[in-house]
Amino acid sequence: MTEQEGTAQGGTPRADDRAAPSGTAPYPAGYRSHASVYREKRTEQSGDHVFCSGTAAGAAPLIGHLPQLVTDPWTFLTSLPAYGDLVTVRIGPSRLHMVCDPGLLHQVLVDDRTFDKGGPLFDKAREVLGDGLPACPHARHRRLRRLVQPAFHPGRMPGYARLMSEQIAHVMDHWRDDQPVDALAVAHEIATGIATSTMFSTQLDAVTMAETRRCVQIAMAGIYRRLLTPGLLERLPTPANRSYDRARAQLHRTVDRIVDRAGNGRGGYEDLLTILIDAGSAGPDGLTRREMTDQVVSFFVSGITSVASALAWALHLVTEQREIAEGLYAEADAVVGGRVAAYEDLPRLDLTRRFLTETVRLYPPGWIFTRRVSSDTRLAGRLLPAGSVLAYSPYVLHRRPDLFPRPERFDPGRWLPDRATAVPQHAYVPFGAGPRKCIGEAFTLTQATLALASITSRWKLSSAGGHAVRPALRATLVPRRLHLRLHRRH
Ligand code: HEM
Repeated sequence: MTEQEGTAQGGTPRADDRAAPSGTAPYPAGYRSHASVYREKRTEQSGDHVFCSGTAAGAAPLIGHLPQLVTDPWTFLTSLPAYGDLVTVRIGPSRLHMVCDPGLLHQVLVDDRTFDKGGPLFDKAREVLGDGLPACPHARHRRLRRLVQPAFHPGRMPGYARLMSEQIAHVMDHWRDDQPVDALAVAHEIATGIATSTMFSTQLDAVTMAETRRCVQIAMAGIYRRLLTPGLLERLPTPANRSYDRARAQLHRTVDRIVDRAGNGRGGYEDLLTILIDAGSAGPDGLTRREMTDQVVSFFVSGITSVASALAWALHLVTEQREIAEGLYAEADAVVGGRVAAYEDLPRLDLTRRFLTETVRLYPPGWIFTRRVSSDTRLAGRLLPAGSVLAYSPYVLHRRPDLFPRPERFDPGRWLPDRATAVPQHAYVPFGAGPRKCIGEAFTLTQATLALASITSRWKLSSAGGHAVRPALRATLVPRRLHLRLHRRH
């Protein structure tokens, strides 16, 4: 593979394919992740490719591209691939190299030793997540991943799915006909209920649950704000900084309480927390109490925020894409029939699953991730000294017209088996790739499919907002002011 400095557009070379350590398919017979369908069919594709680097236009003196990133990051980011496969962006005095080509990104993601977790996003995320699995450095990652992996073993999915269905039913039981709802709040409620029951086998009381949701939201908004503000401003006692500090502290206190309670033997269930507690007593290699709390907070925050974002966007698209939604309602009637969807229904919820696959293409919950270069290296013709910061954005790749024709169009048909093979290799990365790939992908697809099918089975959704829905500026891509109305179907 050769590299050069320049301005041409990149392609999709074949890179060394090191799979994430995630185990075998966790779905019932006949149920397949759409991503795995096209990956399997594309593995023979290979070829040399010339990668090039460039610099984004429009940097202002001193502040660089900060105005574009603050006012409309989406337009700015999607303009970057035009400058090269690796594009330098300036944020004040700092430089960030955005990887805009799927093949180049794959090279970066599989080499997690050279391109280690770090950079502004994970440095800030660590303030909330500590040294949990998503943010920990390469040196600690393999041991932690091995210790927590059993919680995501495919064999656990039917048991988790049962709890998911119960939680979805519990939330929907409180809905009334013709009720207006804040879709993000509803999605958070479902995701928080599922996270607490499957991960901690415990039901938080309603007040603690609402408080926890609020803390997670404040923390996620704070991470993105702090990403773009100079360090000094973070220490000022502004209302936003104070509420961020309080939210972080409260989240850790709640999790500490849950860990204590489970440690006192009141869990009695094979959940994630029990597995972590077992891992804590696994001799000298086991988790320390601090590591345990960091893992729990990490799973809690990642599990709730990303899933809530995906589900909220899916609900938005149900109201916006009326023709496709009619298909969803029909599928829910045929398969679920007014019940709450169950694990056994998954193989027959084909459109619902493709709807979600396409939702996270258009609105990937994790829209930007950073890496820090651990030793001097060359990438796309550019010498990157140790300490350089790289970033990648599923949002950027998923909206490249040469990778996804008419990328702005919501089209679940892209994921039909005969069309999915046309998606270039490594171009669809809502869950990342390589050794740091999301551990919760199957868990997410299961709960989101169950939730969407159960909702469309019982409720018809319409928009109650009367305005265009835009993403809010958060560490996770969430819809701003998404108000929907619920109409009972069954
Ligand atoms: C729509 C839902 C989700 C999306 C889009 C998502 C996305 C991602 C992505 C893109 C990464 C890789 C980040 C990087 O490259 O730096 C990641 C990692 C991770 N995710 Fe998720 N995630 C989702 C749900 C979940 C859930 C439900 C859990 C836990 C129950 C979870 C736990 C994690 C963990 C622990 C990692 C770090 C893995 C490692 O470094 O070994 N995620 N996720």
